[in-house]
Amino acid sequence: MTKRVYAEAIEYLRQRCEVEYVDSDDGLTAEQLRDRVRGKQAIVSQLTDRFDRAVMGGLEGVRVLANVAVGFDNIDVQAATERGILVTNTPDVLTETTADFAFALLLAAARRVVEGHQFLRAGLWKRWAIDLLVGQDVHHRTLGIFGMGRIGQAMARRGNGFSMRLLYHDQVRAPEALERDLGLEFVSKQQLLGESDFVSLHVPLLDATRKLIGAAELRRMKRTAILVNTSRGPVVDEAALAEALRDAVIAGAGLDVFENEPGVHPLLVELPNVVLAPHIASASVDTRRRMSMMAAENAVAVLEGRRPPNLVNADLWESMFSRPGV
Ligand code: DGY
Repeated sequence: MTKRVYAEAIEYLRQRCEVEYVDSDDGLTAEQLRDRVRGKQAIVSQLTDRFDRAVMGGLEGVRVLANVAVGFDNIDVQAATERGILVTNTPDVLTETTADFAFALLLAAARRVVEGHQFLRAGLWKRWAIDLLVGQDVHHRTLGIFGMGRIGQAMARRGNGFSMRLLYHDQVRAPEALERDLGLEFVSKQQLLGESDFVSLHVPLLDATRKLIGAAELRRMKRTAILVNTSRGPVVDEAALAEALRDAVIAGAGLDVFENEPGVHPLLVELPNVVLAPHIASASVDTRRRMSMMAAENAVAVLEGRRPPNLVNADLWESMFSRPGV
């Protein structure tokens, strides 16, 4: 276990295996990681652990990498598969929690919640005024969602609660029944950017989604638009976004993820029209507990020879059991 997790997950593992637990939030360097995993069969990893091809080369004997996250862009899954290492993640349990937070960022940026909080705490509130900290309405406006997976759908349901028009774009169009149930309009990337009052990102980090939103996309958005990102930092060109927010190319942003975490572009930290959070969209007590347990359960399943419930490279599992004589 490369990093601290909730106690019940450690307990669960200790009852079933011999555990080496790194009881710290610091994270391990590639070298430390290689040293610590020597002789282990399972690794419970976190999104800050980088399992690239080079690190993967040193994982002799490891059978499973159980990531405590739904995202697994920290793991070179192709390299893992080639080495016969199963990769698991923690989907579903964090869907609603993450969408709650994405919507919270949207509301906070639109209605200037953080600015109001800071204004009051700074003792600046001397009188009521008709246009004091006026923001934008959210209800009945247009929400554009990139990525109509589990979290994108949960975001759409929240948009419905606010009577919003819902546009979405994805590599693959959603089934008609889902579009109908959620009242979704499938549009091109350009149309989504041009027509949305709020653009929320719910795509995984892939080569195809890296810098999905850059200077050109930001210029395509409405000047009044707000961008929300709870997916992965590199999906947005952070420097381009900071400049766009400074130059009023778009009106605001709500960001939970950054290109070089825990680093944040210095301009973003200064701008009043951006709400920032330290990658906590899934951080409710229940969800983080459940994520810890899910990773532990995935690891134990593999150690006990069972198919783990949340397998990412399912093709590897199939091939393991289709080999003649196995
Ligand atoms: C994930 O699970 O991928 C989030 O980024 C952290 O919860």
